[in-house]
Amino acid sequence: MNVTIRNLLLGATALALAACGSDDDVKRFLTLDGSKPLVIGHRGASGYLPEHTLESYKRAIEMGADFIEPDLVATKDGELIARHEPNITNTTDVANRAEFANRRTTKMVDGVSETGWFASDFTLAEIKTLRAKQAFAERNQSFNGLYTIPTLREVIDLARSESTRVGRTIGVYPETKHPTYHVGLNLALEDRLLAVLASYGYTAKASPIIIQSFEVSNLKYLRTKTQVRIVQLIDADDVDKDGKIVLAAPYDKPYDFAVANDPRTFVTMVTPAGLAEIKQYADGIGPWTPYLLAGKFTDANGDGKPDDLNGDGAIDERDRTLIAPTNVVKDAHAAGLFVHAYTFRNEPRRLASDYKGDPKAEYKRFFDLGVDGLFSDFPDTAIEARDK
Ligand code: G3P
Ligand code: CA
Repeated sequence: MNVTIRNLLLGATALALAACGSDDDVKRFLTLDGSKPLVIGHRGASGYLPEHTLESYKRAIEMGADFIEPDLVATKDGELIARHEPNITNTTDVANRAEFANRRTTKMVDGVSETGWFASDFTLAEIKTLRAKQAFAERNQSFNGLYTIPTLREVIDLARSESTRVGRTIGVYPETKHPTYHVGLNLALEDRLLAVLASYGYTAKASPIIIQSFEVSNLKYLRTKTQVRIVQLIDADDVDKDGKIVLAAPYDKPYDFAVANDPRTFVTMVTPAGLAEIKQYADGIGPWTPYLLAGKFTDANGDGKPDDLNGDGAIDERDRTLIAPTNVVKDAHAAGLFVHAYTFRNEPRRLASDYKGDPKAEYKRFFDLGVDGLFSDFPDTAIEARDK
């Protein structure tokens, strides 16, 4: 069904419900299929607990998340574990572990030199001796050192047992992190991921799984091997003073495009032509939120610097005002792709002035745009904004 007809039907349905005086009439979503947008617990409930731990994922489920999101990297012995980066220095206590001091090294990750401790230099047994820590300095540090690093299997097992416990299906939304980098280590992620998913019978579109990646060729490969839903992530480096996307390596294009000297960028990938190409192998896109709606700084006094709108002496998102939304949601829906935007965070410094410090106002603005789901570090706030 094309989008125009779908929207007309949605409008007609809403009018009919209103005429009946239904209590459900007011909650109507402009999603691709009209269903309620998904709330995805980003790295679990990482606003509250150290990211990518079973405790963080469980908290997200208790808060009502529909999906939990493990980022995946590989260990030396080829196990998939939940970490945002191959470099585990900032999210574990490895730097304080004398027995691993000599594993500190420098590696190139997507063309960038990094120094620290890397998952691929540790067996799973060694990884299991580490403890997670909160990655964001502004968040609660009191849970540092308490929780272990889970494998993908443990994350899926948790989702399944919690689904039984809470009486609803909890999905798992794995992201293959740095696929080209892992190929270079002879630790390619894709077949390992497929094998784990297949062992649970997760091979169909209806399986409670969505696979995501910033790269393309690995998603195309996965599409030849599985029918589970696939999402093309869309990144950028920054947003300029006018709210325009800024591209800079390594965040300007999928890293496999960079290696292949492919001229396409993340910006060209969200044009109608780019979206049509994505539709060949994916079910949805996962754009950074400014691709949908961004804010601009003002310079009323003409001093060449952004105005400090809230007068707190610092320049951050609170000093931006929203500009008009882009057509990316509409164009993606027209291409038959759903849109899951990232990342929603409660901290006031991350919220444009229009939201007046209320994170629920941001969620509502994006729900009004028709997003089909969103990644949130604070799933309880997202659920409240969506359901109340
Ligand atoms: O996967 C959606 C979002 O998580 C992508 O950003 O860097 O948090 O993995 P990142
Ligand atoms: Ca992710």
